Amino acid sequence: MAIRELRYLGDAVLRQKTDPVELFDDELGTLLDDLAETMYANMGVGLAAPQVGDSRRVTVVDVSEARDETEVLELINPVLVSRSGLIDSEEGCLSIPGVVESIERSAEVEIEYQDRNGDRHTVQGVDLLSRILQHELDHLEGILFIDHLGTLRRDMAVREFKIAMAENDLPVGPG
Ligand code: NI
Repeated sequence: MAIRELRYLGDAVLRQKTDPVELFDDELGTLLDDLAETMYANMGVGLAAPQVGDSRRVTVVDVSEARDETEVLELINPVLVSRSGLIDSEEGCLSIPGVVESIERSAEVEIEYQDRNGDRHTVQGVDLLSRILQHELDHLEGILFIDHLGTLRRDMAVREFKIAMAENDLPVGPG
């Protein structure tokens, strides 16, 4: 297992629509292990493959108290099958440090996905888990949470991000 380098707003890989996984091999397992390790190392509750520069339809989520590999939810080729209700709560993203904004999301979602062996499952997400699942599925479409903001708030968010990147001596990608 290894901690992979995070990609930040401005990096083109974050804007690509990901490719479905067809090969459920050891290399996919390594990607999943590394995603989890990178998420925990950065205190995240979810991490999508594009955030480490890999354009496959893969994400990991953990909203448990324990926050270790025993609780990680690995979602491969996830698809939203139903949604209901609305919640409005604060959200951030490891690829956009320095920015926290309230975003409207569905309160409940149902997601179909495959595990690392290719077996199919369904997960129901309510409140926090629902919000994170929608955030991560967005990543797999090349959508970032600030895209849900109006123009003014979005511009402000980008400025806050650039300040946070400069303060932490992190690279801001082109565009
Ligand atoms: Ni994110």
